[in-house]
Amino acid sequence: MASNLSNRRWLLTSYPEGMPDESHFELQENVEVPALEDGQILVHARYLSVDPYMRGRIAPGANYAAGVEPGGLMQGGGVGEVIESRSPDFREGDIIETRDFGWQEYVVLGPDNGVTKVDPDLAPIQSSLSYLGMPGLTAYFGMFEVINAQPGDTVVVSAASGAVGQVAGQLGKAHGCRMVAVASSDDKLDWCKEIGYVDGVNYRTAADDLPGALKAACPDGVDGYFDNTAGPIHDAVMENLAQNARIAVCGTVSLADRLGQPDIGPRYHRQILVARARIQGFIVFDFAETYEEARNHIAGLVQKGELQFKEDVSEGVETMAASFLKLLYSDNFGKQLVRVSG
Ligand SMILES: NC(=O)c1ccc[n+]([C@@H]2O[C@H](COP(=O)([O-])OP(=O)(O)OC[C@H]3O[C@@H](n4cnc5c(N)ncnc54)[C@H](OP(=O)(O)O)[C@@H]3O)[C@@H](O)[C@H]2O)c1
Repeated sequence: MASNLSNRRWLLTSYPEGMPDESHFELQENVEVPALEDGQILVHARYLSVDPYMRGRIAPGANYAAGVEPGGLMQGGGVGEVIESRSPDFREGDIIETRDFGWQEYVVLGPDNGVTKVDPDLAPIQSSLSYLGMPGLTAYFGMFEVINAQPGDTVVVSAASGAVGQVAGQLGKAHGCRMVAVASSDDKLDWCKEIGYVDGVNYRTAADDLPGALKAACPDGVDGYFDNTAGPIHDAVMENLAQNARIAVCGTVSLADRLGQPDIGPRYHRQILVARARIQGFIVFDFAETYEEARNHIAGLVQKGELQFKEDVSEGVETMAASFLKLLYSDNFGKQLVRVSG
């Protein structure tokens, strides 16, 4: 069966030096799908996940996970249907999710690939790539394990309308925090307020005085900062720390055009000292042993009708590279996905 199929997949052509563009990626067509060996399954993608972390994986420097070399298949998560199985654990028709899908229409997966069955009756299957998957878990652990958010805390979230930011905002609201969004447009901030953020800062229109705009939104200072971006938003928060502030460094998407080069900006040792602040980086995988607890917590909000979620869906595997670039230029509005089939 597999030999009748041909795959389309995206390769990295070269490491970008500044901001990536479409020339750094190549769509390969008519790629043969290998026949299955014992223990393997063949999966047809329904949705592929598009994530900012791929910027770090296409840079030659050290990272927390192995990257893609020029000529290699672009990595990424996906959810799809098992169309052939030589595994005792999966049947044709099963819907599965894996981090190891890659930017392609078909994938052959084996026991080492971390494949999870998805229950299509529980929630839309693509939620396993968003609020019930990696971005949702990241929001949960960032809020509760790293920031240790407490009821009454003022918590600022950058990229607040994105996949992680939407969930962080709603988790914080449900926990009794005063959530403040930072985003690039008023439309995005309006959405953030609809889902529970009490205030917001447009970092583009307020660029002349970002610390002042944050002060207006956080008059008693910032107790928790969920940092998805680094850059000037981070700097503005550092000027507004409350006593014992906790800063969770989750992502550095604003550095997409200068990975591998020194960051620029002021130093904040005095502010950290005076506020007795704590800054901690984290990677969601650090909390793998308690994923179930986090997923149940988020699923509980979903069941009570207390979680809203916006997706930004492009059509067809051929849109993967353009969809990825949208994230780096703030052009996505909600979790960026690519629908491949179904
Ligand atoms: N540590 C972990 O384990 C982990 C796991 C998942 C994700 N992350 C990180 O979490 C962050 C959010 O990821 P996501 O999947 O939820 O993506 P996302 O927020 O849905 O999309 C990326 C967003 O980044 C913002 N952005 C892009 N360029 C920017 C710039 N120069 N300055 C400020 N904001 C900029 C844009 O929002 P605006 O329109 O508001 O600019 C864009 O919508 C990323 O940094 C990602 O790498 C970390």
